[in-house]
Amino acid sequence: MDFRRIARRRLPAPVFHYLDGGADDEWTLKRNTDAFNDYEILPAQLSDVSSVSLKSTLFGKSVDWPVMLSPTGASKLFHASGEPAVVRAAEKFGMTYGLSTLATTTIEDVAVAGDCPKMYQIYILKDRGVAASMIERCKASGYTALCLTVDTPVPGNRERDAVYGFSSGRLRMRSVPSWIRHAGWLYRALVRKDLEMVNLATSDRPSQFDDMSLLEYFNDQLDRSLTWKDVEWLASKWNGPLVVKGIQTVADCRHALNSGATAVMLSNHGGRQLEGAPAPVDCIADVADALHDKLEIICDGGIRRGTHVIKALALGASACSIGRAYLYPLAAGGEQGVIRGLSLLRDEILRSMALMGCDSIDKLGKGFVRHRG
Ligand code: GLV
Repeated sequence: MDFRRIARRRLPAPVFHYLDGGADDEWTLKRNTDAFNDYEILPAQLSDVSSVSLKSTLFGKSVDWPVMLSPTGASKLFHASGEPAVVRAAEKFGMTYGLSTLATTTIEDVAVAGDCPKMYQIYILKDRGVAASMIERCKASGYTALCLTVDTPVPGNRERDAVYGFSSGRLRMRSVPSWIRHAGWLYRALVRKDLEMVNLATSDRPSQFDDMSLLEYFNDQLDRSLTWKDVEWLASKWNGPLVVKGIQTVADCRHALNSGATAVMLSNHGGRQLEGAPAPVDCIADVADALHDKLEIICDGGIRRGTHVIKALALGASACSIGRAYLYPLAAGGEQGVIRGLSLLRDEILRSMALMGCDSIDKLGKGFVRHRG
């Protein structure tokens, strides 16, 4: 949370609040992290923890620890070094990088930025050709996994974005002093223009959308008529590890499995979409009991500490995914910030694994965790 404090100083207020905020009253956003406190870790002492291994696998690739980087929109909003800096950090830490459709770096540039497994997060838009061409580009660039986000039939109600003028693109008086204090950021946005959502820009946009901003185009293209049949279509086009992101119930995870998914991301979009949705950590046990041998289960949301990762894995998750936990460090210190943030998180996991008497990830199980209730 120190990175968050620095990020708050470094970013124009509307940009900070876009990163930091959630939907409605932000109950789900807060709950995502708070819910970890409802679980206790039960130590098994004198278990020989002279070496602790975090090695795991995800999407059929070996990774150095079971934490991946969630796809998040427009990293160049937060630091000029953007997505490539995060990819380099992912390579250094032996972890999977998730690239968002709404990123400010292309599929191809991310592919060559660093040598780590990569997952591309896709939306199925009204124009199915957009997804089809992105899939071809991901195949050509050697992406390991494809991830469909399904919790965004409409944009969430992010009131901070409205209050600070981020979503409307209109200048709000309350934001003026902060824009003035961050003239360098404005220069980059207005002169260098490196904040474009380049993966949408390079898709085959029909010409009638050319005069719309890319965000308007995207919001207009969100397809409320999607069903699990569309996931089957995606699975047949991709034909590789397929993640469905933004589901929380056993029923939806079964639908994902039956539609061709190999993994699920238990996620409420970082509390940015449906207010009132449960914390991902509270969804793990039921999904793992029902489907652990059929799907990889990734817990995405609220993770700020190494012990959060340990609790999620002990409850049955195969891996965890972090968003704000790398974006605050990115905003605070670019690539070095992300490296520092990841190193703190990994050290916390290693230390806690030793303290609880568990020397490898595959030994983490329900015996190590209990609900306080
Ligand atoms: C993008 O997916 C966002 O949550 O802002």
